[in-house]
Amino acid sequence: MPGIALIGTQWGDEGKGKITDLLAGDVDVVVRCTGGDNAGHTLVVGGETYKLRLTPSGILYPNVTPVIGNGVVINPRVLLEEIDGLTARGVDTSRLHISGNAHLVMPYHLELDKLTERFLGKHSLGTTKKGIGPTYADKAMRVGVRVQDLYDPKIFRQKVDAALKDKNQVLTRVYGRLPIDVDEVCDEYLGYADRIVGMVGDTSLLVHEALAAGHRVLFEGAQGTLLDLDHGTYPYVTSSNPIASGICTGAGVGPRALDEIVGITKAYVTRVGTGPFPTELFDEVGEEIGRIGMEFGTVTGRKRRCGWFDAVLLRYATRLNSLTSIALTKLDVLSHFDTVRICVAYEHAGKRLEEVPFHQSDIHHVQPVYEDMPGWSCDISDVTLYADLPAAAQAYVERLETLAGIPVGIVGVGPGRPQTLIRGGGRPVRAGEVA
Ligand code: GDP
Ligand code: IMO
Ligand code: MG
Repeated sequence: MPGIALIGTQWGDEGKGKITDLLAGDVDVVVRCTGGDNAGHTLVVGGETYKLRLTPSGILYPNVTPVIGNGVVINPRVLLEEIDGLTARGVDTSRLHISGNAHLVMPYHLELDKLTERFLGKHSLGTTKKGIGPTYADKAMRVGVRVQDLYDPKIFRQKVDAALKDKNQVLTRVYGRLPIDVDEVCDEYLGYADRIVGMVGDTSLLVHEALAAGHRVLFEGAQGTLLDLDHGTYPYVTSSNPIASGICTGAGVGPRALDEIVGITKAYVTRVGTGPFPTELFDEVGEEIGRIGMEFGTVTGRKRRCGWFDAVLLRYATRLNSLTSIALTKLDVLSHFDTVRICVAYEHAGKRLEEVPFHQSDIHHVQPVYEDMPGWSCDISDVTLYADLPAAAQAYVERLETLAGIPVGIVGVGPGRPQTLIRGGGRPVRAGEVA
């Protein structure tokens, strides 16, 4: 069964990088499909930490062909910094493939992201300020600039020139900023073209051929289901579709290419940026989860908001993504607590809600209905077999499984590669196959 998608089920930072890296040892191709350098995926391998923003988390394995798909928006300066950083650490990046259809994050996108956030004031979204929204907006407006344009300097200049005619009006007249110079942008970006020329091509075809040959392809999601442009907590979302259907668009494959769809789920919930968060904790417990879980943004260093597990959101993510199993990360972080809480429903206006309410105003005001479970109060970070977890920890995992209606195939008990418990015979499991 060659196509496996890994999708964040919450507001990002669920541990997608770690799980991708873990499974990549056993696959041929790893594809990043959506988002840009707003993503920060952390891998801890042999005591060394890697923070990847654009390159797929399979890059550390020599057996893997890493691919950046058409759905990703690429800031070439950041990509080259990342390639250089990895190369300096002895990682071979020459196998990287980049879609010619991927859009480029341009200097004016970065500027506009910062300015719009500043002008929104207290209504700002808390974006990562990496130009993501403006780049996807230009893609939808059909005035974007793509990687392939780097290889036709005349067209590249025409496109940048056309874009800047509009952007410079906005920059100077609306925001009172200096205009951006077309020559400077062209010189900088065309300078990047040679560095990646051998990597650029039709990555949809590459993935298709790999699947057709029976090779195993891992589709690495970025962000998370609740940050999805269509199905997340709009407008407090990112500007792409991190859900499973977005993976198909962003890699250029049909839905039948996804044989297994694994929901990467943290054992509690975090969020960076603004927006509703029903189980958010404002007390010492929330602080403690953040401290033990080291919940600080990989990209921006911002403190992540923390809260108890939300099974309503997990059910929502399960159906939106057709999840086949769950990889539960950071269970070890909860070891410290005498009681662990699971939000099983919401309450709003005197009514119990089993599902995420459709109206944005209601999501802001729902109250979590909690089920309390006994904690396990001991260190589990050295446990290597699921059966060796304390009974209370197993009960917590299995309660989440029941609430989601799909099996938990992987359990994370620490950031390192070996700190992972695999159930279901060493691979993500399908419904009904829990070992
Ligand atoms: P991603 O964006 O989904 O890849 O997640 P991030 O890398 O932004 O954040 C997840 C953080 O949790 C990283 O620092 C990981 O090293 C760490 N992590 C992943 N899995 C586990 C786990 O099971 N236990 C602990 N303690 N840390 C983990
Ligand atoms: P990974 O892949 C967590 C959030 C931002 C902000 C909102 C919009 O590491 O899980 P954007 O810059 O995308 O326009 O910001 O989305 N956000 C993330 N939060 N993890 C991420 O990626 C995120 N990517 C974007 O904090 O609230
Ligand atoms: Mg992250």
